[in-house]
Amino acid sequence: MLAELDAIKSDALSAIEAITDESGLEEARVGFLGKKGRLTAASAGMRDVPKEQKKDVGQKLNEVRTAITAALEEKGAALTAAKDAAAFASIDATLPSRPLPEGGLHPLTHVLNEAVSILRRMGFALAEGPEIETEWHCFDALNTPEDHPARNESDTFYFENGKLLRTHTSSVQIRTMEKEVPPVRIIAPGSAFRRDEIDATHLSAFHQLEGLYVDKNVTLADLKGTLEYFFRELFGSKTEVRFRPHFFPFTEPSFEVDLKLHATGKAAKWIEIAGCGIVDPAVFSEVSTKRGDAAYNPSEISGFAFGMGLDRLAMIMYGIPDLRLLIENDVRFLQQFAK
Ligand code: DAH
Repeated sequence: MLAELDAIKSDALSAIEAITDESGLEEARVGFLGKKGRLTAASAGMRDVPKEQKKDVGQKLNEVRTAITAALEEKGAALTAAKDAAAFASIDATLPSRPLPEGGLHPLTHVLNEAVSILRRMGFALAEGPEIETEWHCFDALNTPEDHPARNESDTFYFENGKLLRTHTSSVQIRTMEKEVPPVRIIAPGSAFRRDEIDATHLSAFHQLEGLYVDKNVTLADLKGTLEYFFRELFGSKTEVRFRPHFFPFTEPSFEVDLKLHATGKAAKWIEIAGCGIVDPAVFSEVSTKRGDAAYNPSEISGFAFGMGLDRLAMIMYGIPDLRLLIENDVRFLQQFAK
């Protein structure tokens, strides 16, 4: 019996050794350890073993079973490892991954972020107002008379209910003063709309950044200092800024702001970039009437306001020759700004 068990063991081990796939492994398991397997059959012979040998034979039986089980497990692990290795052999895990197309910010967004961050450092808070506006917020409260050309149907998109697409972000000045009391120091970036013929320097939907500062004793010097500092932060400390007298209904005095640009290879040129001025007392009076309080009493407070074209800032900052490029969404153009 002992000799037979030894024979089974050595047969099993060499059979297992020779196995090359999983079905061979299963066959061997059934052939030796299965219900009708050789070891199972041999152990049935225990019955006939004389009593004094039972212990030895029992031990041997266990030893052989353990050895066969271990060999099967070891072979199984080796087969799995070989299979994995074969699968990985066709993959080069050290290859760099394929580049994924990365998103980037629109040039306008870059300019907006930069402008907002400078003005926030100076203490301006962000404010918002609706793009669909009332005539009162867009014009009347800003001291713009009925017969002003900007109010004409041919310049402004009107809705049938009398509302309009705001023609400038200046309406946010009014919206802010309706809600808040001085001191007020806000900037309001956003879209504005005009019935303009679209060309290289005009879009019917464009972007502006409005500013308003109301407090006691706000002067023209504050306005000039603020805008000069702003443009030098944005375009460099050598940037020249010029204030040219102009007219806006909502400021008095009013100015247009020009920047002197030194494009390489070209004569330096002044470019109009913003409108600004000292808030007209008539605007404070309108706001006061609407509010019904004395928070904006024009004899107690003063303020300055400004508004600039963000699209134009982007043109200058990046040397973009045609505004239409900003809305065409041509990836070849936009990719150049993806940082
Ligand atoms: N709203 C003016 C425009 O769209 C720009 C402007 C001029 C805004 C003077 C102001 C200002 O706040 O004070 O052309």
